[in-house]
Amino acid sequence: MEKKILFPRIGGFVHGGDYNPDQWLDRPDILEEDVCLMKKAGVNSVTLGVFSWAACEPVEGEFHFEWMEQIIDNLYQNGIYTILSTPSGARPAWLDERYPEAMRVDERGVRNHHGVRHNHCMTSPEYRAKVAVIDRKLAERLGSHPGVVMYHISNEFGGECYCPHCAQKFREYLAEKFDHDIEKLNKAWWTSFWSHHYNSFEQIEPPFANGETSVMGLNLEWKRFTTWSTDDFMQFEINTLHSVTPDVPVTANFMQMFGGLDYRKLAPHLDVVSWDNYPTFHNDQETLAETFAETAFHHAMMRSLKRDVPFMMMESAPGLVNWHRVNKLKRPGVHRLACLQAVAAGSDSVQYFQWRKGRGSYEQFHGAVVDHSGGEDTRVFREVAEVGEILKKIAPAAGTVVKSRAALLFDWDNRWAIWDVKALGQKTKNYEKVCVDIWKEFLKLGIDMDVVGSDEDLSRYDVVAAPMLYMVTPRAAANLKAFVERGGQLLATYFTGYVDEDQLCFLGGFPGEGLKSLFGVVSEEIDSLYPSDRNGIVLKDGSRWEVRDYAEILKVVDAEVLGTYTEDFYAGGAALTCRRLGEGASRGAAYYMAARTESSAMVPLFEKMLTDAGIAVRRMPEGVEYHVRTGEEGVYEFYLNCSGETVRVEDVRGLDLVTGNTVNGSLVLDGYGVAVVRA
Ligand code: GLA
Ligand code: ZN
Repeated sequence: MEKKILFPRIGGFVHGGDYNPDQWLDRPDILEEDVCLMKKAGVNSVTLGVFSWAACEPVEGEFHFEWMEQIIDNLYQNGIYTILSTPSGARPAWLDERYPEAMRVDERGVRNHHGVRHNHCMTSPEYRAKVAVIDRKLAERLGSHPGVVMYHISNEFGGECYCPHCAQKFREYLAEKFDHDIEKLNKAWWTSFWSHHYNSFEQIEPPFANGETSVMGLNLEWKRFTTWSTDDFMQFEINTLHSVTPDVPVTANFMQMFGGLDYRKLAPHLDVVSWDNYPTFHNDQETLAETFAETAFHHAMMRSLKRDVPFMMMESAPGLVNWHRVNKLKRPGVHRLACLQAVAAGSDSVQYFQWRKGRGSYEQFHGAVVDHSGGEDTRVFREVAEVGEILKKIAPAAGTVVKSRAALLFDWDNRWAIWDVKALGQKTKNYEKVCVDIWKEFLKLGIDMDVVGSDEDLSRYDVVAAPMLYMVTPRAAANLKAFVERGGQLLATYFTGYVDEDQLCFLGGFPGEGLKSLFGVVSEEIDSLYPSDRNGIVLKDGSRWEVRDYAEILKVVDAEVLGTYTEDFYAGGAALTCRRLGEGASRGAAYYMAARTESSAMVPLFEKMLTDAGIAVRRMPEGVEYHVRTGEEGVYEFYLNCSGETVRVEDVRGLDLVTGNTVNGSLVLDGYGVAVVRA
């Protein structure tokens, strides 16, 4: 497979979405209209079969792929490719009736009834056996069809199962992890507390809601196990398909900020990372530009799961969704902007859920390219068709990638540990928000940071922000030290380096794992503030930052104090410090920000870090996003006006592929306007 361009056969961007013709098999007129409309909308791919188990195997052992083959054939003849999905995301009634152990057991030990979707037990031998059969048949019958360009595995993996079989797998997983030595586990989980000592692995249960929830190590390993188990299931599906058709690339669709799975463990087993993007546009809590900036963060996170190849936006709503608190329409022009944002952030696809609105049941009012009214004469259809046109115009940019020299560290293990820790303020931990907010401020400076794990290779970065890195592994600590030693600009914050990977506190002062010497500070106490409490920081240049939520009291051992607290019994104490390493161009810096402040206040610090690292800051007008994709094919600058007002961006030079105009200096963008400028 040519890895750089996702679909050599398409030779540009993928435009399409989930197609569910199995809901319309009794309406050949509609199926015919579909193909005709797809061509009008510039659609070149569909994702087929996502929930088609019942249509492909209506009763056990009786297979019907003819309808699917006909659809794939017909699409292919019309220049439309198929991303073929395994149907394991939902099960037909016969399966649960015959094999009840396929159904998931909840956190109180109660088995689910048949229904909805995504409620299967990942370890159930019965379920796996049935999935193996249908996947193999699917691959044998359709995997080598010239129209099939990729496999889509299941759908939005997620959820936990507490059944006896999963519990037994969990014990086996733990026994292997702790070298079959129960005392190793007892030590790691600090079970001498509250008489929690285990005599054998057989005594361990999952953290049932009405059972053991007070052992942090157990809770964390359960989350890790759920990722392991899901990944094991996903690999089982991939291996089944690849035993028949080894050359078809695979993807699985992820969800934004999903907390249930450590996607970094799954990504290596996929050829392409894809994800489903459903922002709450025009909500009542933030500006549209802010919603866009958050979405840009989600794109960056997905992109960074595989840094050297484009990702895919597998799903997005052409109009509206049906499951937000308020299902608001996207205002005219916002669809184009959202689609182009995905591309700007490194996606080689713009795909929708779904092609045509179904008539009944749960998703009957979810937006789709084709409405219940049918035909092409709708606002939504026209906007989708416009995107199809634009994607053709910017096709040369396909295969290029975003190359960032700055990264934000974000770990799932750390996230889970912070969720669970009994400390700080119960409602103000907000790890994710802190990460997103810092990331957004960099974006306003024109920096599209990667989002990577603390134990990943940092050698390509010169600026790293590592907020609230509560859990630090030896690998992460070594990584951070090496980063600063070779001249990197590093920012850590309060609540860094408290626990190791088992959630045992470091002894001898925080931040542990050798980070005390890197930052030259010891954090002695952390003060949690009530929501209305405030403290302040006064910086050397006289500027002041407001402190909320958290303030650590530092002992400064070997660092320059850049800011001090203004209030309370620790007034005058260090709040922002910097320890510098090396000389000249390779001068690294380890900043420690001991308190929480609005990330917008820290922008001067971010600018200094970037400038010291030799990264040019490109501050955009209010509401404008700037992203760059590069590759052998050239450099493409994306300007996205996420405001409804006309804006002017200076210093833009090149050919705008969207309008075909040459820009020489200033670029004028209408409200929600986009430009893709080839330098
Ligand atoms: C998810 C699912 C789709 C569909 C959409 C609706 O992303 O993968 O099947 O239900 O949500 O927004
Ligand atoms: Zn189970």
